[in-house]
Amino acid sequence: MKKNYNIALVGLGNIGSYLFNFLMKNKNYLSNKNNSNFKIAYISAKSKNKKRNFKIKKKQWINNIRDIVTKKDIDIVIELIGGAEGPAKKLVFNALKNKKHVVTANKALISKYGDQLSKIAERNKVNLEYEAAVCGGVPIIRSIKEGLIANKINRIYGIFNGTSNYVLSSMDKDKTSFQETINKAKNYGYAESNPKSDIDGDDVASKVKILSCLSFNSFLNKNIHVEGISEIDNEDIINADKLGYKIKLLGFSEILNNRLFQRVHPTLVKKTSYIASVNGVLNAVIIDGKPIGKNIIQGEGAGPAATTSALVSDISSILRGNIKYPFAISNDKRKKFKTGKISDLYFSSYIRLNVKDKYGVLSDITKTFSRNKVSIKRVLQSPYKNKKNSSIIIITHSSKDYHIQKTLKTLAKKTYIIKKPKLLRIENG
Ligand SMILES: NC(=O)c1ccc[n+]([C@@H]2O[C@H](COP(=O)([O-])OP(=O)(O)OC[C@H]3O[C@@H](n4cnc5c(N)ncnc54)[C@H](OP(=O)(O)O)[C@@H]3O)[C@@H](O)[C@H]2O)c1
Repeated sequence: MKKNYNIALVGLGNIGSYLFNFLMKNKNYLSNKNNSNFKIAYISAKSKNKKRNFKIKKKQWINNIRDIVTKKDIDIVIELIGGAEGPAKKLVFNALKNKKHVVTANKALISKYGDQLSKIAERNKVNLEYEAAVCGGVPIIRSIKEGLIANKINRIYGIFNGTSNYVLSSMDKDKTSFQETINKAKNYGYAESNPKSDIDGDDVASKVKILSCLSFNSFLNKNIHVEGISEIDNEDIINADKLGYKIKLLGFSEILNNRLFQRVHPTLVKKTSYIASVNGVLNAVIIDGKPIGKNIIQGEGAGPAATTSALVSDISSILRGNIKYPFAISNDKRKKFKTGKISDLYFSSYIRLNVKDKYGVLSDITKTFSRNKVSIKRVLQSPYKNKKNSSIIIITHSSKDYHIQKTLKTLAKKTYIIKKPKLLRIENG
């Protein structure tokens, strides 16, 4: 006989309303696929009187979300409110404490409180599922937990944010300025009205922290180097193109010498590389593991359709009775890694210097690099028309990031430097 599950759906915004319609339309199909029946027994959002694009039965609506967690006839709570604090946090903590399975798309909550939540879920033998919190429609979490379970992962990286990828690829394709491109992204619905966390790298950082736990059986780790894309301009995009590169905002997590390195920064990637061809709102995750080697999963990173695909996969996992550890392994087997700093890593780098055009500048620059143990691979100099300034682009050989940063600090103090030197790291993998 098929088991019956009652669902409470909380949050009916972009994602919640799309999911509701999808579940109603595909009820029989999903029940057959999962060999279980489900019913959306309860629904809640902030405003009862808001117009919705579906009908809500009177007995389905719950005014106060506090009442949801104590209802005996609820098996699964789907949280689609958002935010690391406030009502979403209370709902998820209390639902797990009351032995309800939880499905959420909330990366802010999981990247901050995931360890505590995971302990409650494990103690109460319920699922905490969050596939939709990382890269929307790209099934990366289930892939790491199940499909790639055999593998020892040593590195995971990629494009984890659709808005910033759309901005960088549009600036490249249409030659529009950063601000023009952000405005265009907002008009097309590819960026929220306040896209701050997409642009400053914080959204990617949340995802990197979650992926680190899953890849390395570790606890969440706050130590992460984060740089966003707001300082990238058309000149950098054109320079990168001339040198055979594209600029992408990448997130990285890797274990080197038993230390965890987490970082997010705009990165130059070879035009011929796979990742350079991932454009627009697409996300791509690259896993380096043994015995699989390099594995790439690509897809739409956000939006109601892609996010619903991930949410339905989480719901289906619960309907099939697939009780799992939220971070793939029991909490008492998870490890705490020491963290490494980006300054200890080695990169070939792109450095842009805006300088006064005068005698001896280039030779002083090259001397400064060599005094700081950084060797130069290539130099491009382009004078600005009608100005007494020029732009000098330097590509370095692989050098310790600490030495590169020290070089830039020294150069920033020189009287011929007219703008803060810019550093973009190059990924050759
Ligand atoms: N949008 C995406 O592409 C995307 C992709 C991946 C993950 N996510 C995640 O999915 C979640 C939902 O995102 P969204 O874009 O759907 O957000 P949204 O459109 O802003 O919807 C938020 C919903 O939460 C409800 N809500 C707010 N405060 C509440 C409270 N105190 N009690 C009950 N309900 C409350 C709102 O009610 P009203 O409708 O009454 O205002 C609304 O229905 C977030 O965690 C987000 O990070 C979104």
